[in-house]
Amino acid sequence: MSLPVEDDVPLSALLREGTRTDHAAAETERFIEQLMSGALTRAAYADLAAQQLAVYEALEAASTDVRADDRGAGLVFDELTRVPAIERDLAFLYGPSWREEIRILPATREYADRVREVGGSLPHYAAHAYTRYLGDLSGGQIVKRMIERHYGLADGGLAFYTFPDIPKVKVFKDAYRDRLDQLALGPDEVAATVSEAQLAFRLNRAVFSALAEVHC
Ligand code: HEM
Repeated sequence: MSLPVEDDVPLSALLREGTRTDHAAAETERFIEQLMSGALTRAAYADLAAQQLAVYEALEAASTDVRADDRGAGLVFDELTRVPAIERDLAFLYGPSWREEIRILPATREYADRVREVGGSLPHYAAHAYTRYLGDLSGGQIVKRMIERHYGLADGGLAFYTFPDIPKVKVFKDAYRDRLDQLALGPDEVAATVSEAQLAFRLNRAVFSALAEVHC
């Protein structure tokens, strides 16, 4: 779906509107619903964490490039960095030989490859960073509570969903949206950002479908 891009509508609002339908679809994916209801195993959650490692390695490699770009530097926040947290979770969930045990699904590879391929371009980076980080700070916080409750993970394995350097999530999300809105993007770049965010949601859904094939 492509939206008419109007000059006076902030990018954050265009992104929210442009991905509303995709969000509803992602949040009701079979894997997500079953994970949230406690119907799956801890191994299913561990597999999700492994997929996230591949995606965030690509995203955070792109963050390094974008930080060096005058237009994009304001969108990169150290407090969002997730790779070390995911690695801690994987060590907890799989044990010390986690690197040999995890396997990245083809759908995840495709998602990570896309981020690597386009992530150095600011509109594309903004789309992928928006989709993941604002998602982690929103629905991710609900997911965290459900997983903790259903899979007995009070002692570890949930660092990915924990942002120790972001004490007030709502304040941070508002600031992040402001940064998105202040990006110096032309109309074509704004349109590219929205359509890339829609693609990002589709790529996320494809990962959930692949996980459902294995675990549901
Ligand atoms: C269990 C599944 C999910 C639940 C329950 C959920 C729930 C929510 C809620 C309640 C919000 C609104 C938060 C606010 O306005 O402050 C939100 C926002 C958001 N979610 Fe999700 N979500 C889920 C899955 C996902 C997934 C899979 C993605 C993408 C990969 C995602 C990406 C986003 C984004 C980008 C926002 C920010 C929307 C905006 O304000 O522009 N969510 N989510």
